[in-house]
Amino acid sequence: MTNTLLKSEVTGRIYLSDNLEVLRALPSASVDLIYIDPPFNTGKVQQRTQLKTVRSADGDRVGFQGHRYESIVVGTKRFIDSFDDYLAFLEPRLIEAHRVLAPHGSFYFHVDYREVHYCKVLLDSIFGRASFLNEIIWAYDYGGRPKNRWPPKHDNILLYAKDPAHYVFNVDEIERIPYMAPGLVGPEKAARGKLPTDTWWHTIVPTNGSEKTGYPTQKPLGILRRMIQASTHSRALVLDFFAGSGTTGVAALELGRRFILVDNNPEALAVMARRFDGVEGIEWVGFDPVPHQRVEKQRSLFSTPAT
Ligand SMILES: C[S@@+](CC[C@H](N)C(=O)[O-])C[C@H]1O[C@@H](n2cnc3c(N)ncnc32)[C@H](O)[C@@H]1O
Repeated sequence: MTNTLLKSEVTGRIYLSDNLEVLRALPSASVDLIYIDPPFNTGKVQQRTQLKTVRSADGDRVGFQGHRYESIVVGTKRFIDSFDDYLAFLEPRLIEAHRVLAPHGSFYFHVDYREVHYCKVLLDSIFGRASFLNEIIWAYDYGGRPKNRWPPKHDNILLYAKDPAHYVFNVDEIERIPYMAPGLVGPEKAARGKLPTDTWWHTIVPTNGSEKTGYPTQKPLGILRRMIQASTHSRALVLDFFAGSGTTGVAALELGRRFILVDNNPEALAVMARRFDGVEGIEWVGFDPVPHQRVEKQRSLFSTPAT
């Protein structure tokens, strides 16, 4: 296991591994920000199937000018989102996360409404209640609406500081957002926009946009950018040990930060191999990205924000 910290010329390191093993090998107090988005314990296999439509005389769909098309399955990406004891799985990883976080570091924990209350109690016991800074509500508006209760349309992101008296919060660098009623605040304030609160309205990754990788539960770059911009300085080291498609690494790269990403699913690493294709200074541990790169047209890392 590579346990040295990144050399200054290295942009990022990406591991195919169980994250506990990597965490245990990382030096204490070495990481400036941790963001994790563990599986939500939904008990399901998370799966996305990608389809491609091609012209075919036998196709079952009729399109423009009466041409017939058929859908071909390009591939399916999946991971198992069920653990016998979710908190027992998380706890040793959270204890390590606390250890590797720098004294001024921030920890963002992304979960959903089913698990958040249990996770808050667990995190309070590891970080201390005084270290809890915020519960961010990421609200979106997508998917079906059950008719028997309020449709759940948000995720929860718990923010802890290692030291609540000394942590990074670059309030002046946070991208401001439009006022809901600009007419009420005067033209100067309206033009400047307002500081976002702990409730973030942001679309999910658009299903047909360039940001989409096809990986299940991929999070939008816009919310990662906001966290990293607010809670780290330039060249900071950002860690995501449930990395999935590598969104945290892409946001870190865009903002001039360095990153460590870990996932134990080879399909996640294959997606990251394509996402980081052409980026200089990335070390791969336990995985060879080359067979997955330059197979398809390189996606732009610098896609437009999805607000
Ligand atoms: C919800 S997804 C993360 C999605 C990611 N935030 C993105 O934007 O693509 C959770 C990821 O955790 C990974 N995972 C689950 N258990 C793990 C473990 N023990 N070690 C490393 N990765 C793990 C899964 O393979 C999955 O890719």
